[in-house]
Amino acid sequence: MLISISNIKGGVGKTTTAVNLATAAALEGLKVLLWDMDIQKACKFFFEPQKISKNLYATEYSDLKIYEDNRFDKNITDEYDIVIIDTPAGFNKKIKNAIKSSDLVIVPTTPSLLAMRTYNDLVEKGYENLRLLLNGVEKKESHKKVVGLILNLPKNQYFKTYIPKSEELENMAFFQKNIFKINPSSLSAKAYKKLLHEII
Ligand SMILES: Nc1ncnc2c1ncn2[C@@H]1O[C@H](COP(=O)(O)OP(=O)(O)OP(=O)(O)O)[C@@H](O)[C@H]1O
Ligand SMILES: [Mg+2]
Repeated sequence: MLISISNIKGGVGKTTTAVNLATAAALEGLKVLLWDMDIQKACKFFFEPQKISKNLYATEYSDLKIYEDNRFDKNITDEYDIVIIDTPAGFNKKIKNAIKSSDLVIVPTTPSLLAMRTYNDLVEKGYENLRLLLNGVEKKESHKKVVGLILNLPKNQYFKTYIPKSEELENMAFFQKNIFKINPSSLSAKAYKKLLHEII
């Protein structure tokens, strides 16, 4: 299964989602490839160097011709149970190709009206494999309003699981660790497990 994590908007939790979802899947025994398509190389930053768990493989940014042709699906995805691509923010040709090749595109979205508008922009491009993941949810009125809007979407367009705003997630970069290493029993770690089970 090929999954892209993508959003036109930056800083919405794409890399955080990619790293933690990949780890959740590897911890359940799936063979996972985490593919960093972002030149910022942030995925790698979240792992202690050399210490990626047994089933989790990671590849760094490279200018992959693979996105220009159709070899992507056949050659790479057959070797893994799940391939997760962390795309950079934006919407260029490579991102488009990643989205088009994917079985599922997770669109992490922060709980704001503007972020919802950006999600709709992507939907209006006609992709049918997009699914909104609400990220950074707090217990406040404005967030409840956005949750209300999301519940009006067709059920296959959003995940029931949402990722709470948490200090542990914010601290991942400090510790260079994923959430399962920082605190496996945290609400956030549980949320990523739940998210995985909505997918597999
Ligand atoms: N649920 C959350 N709670 C608290 N902090 C979060 C949460 N999700 C992400 N963050 C923090 O927000 C920042 C941006 O997250 P992240 O790097 O995953 O976004 P991104 O969409 O990949 O950004 P970019 O577009 O630059 O690639 C990071 O500092 C991250 O730790
Ligand atoms: Mg990122």
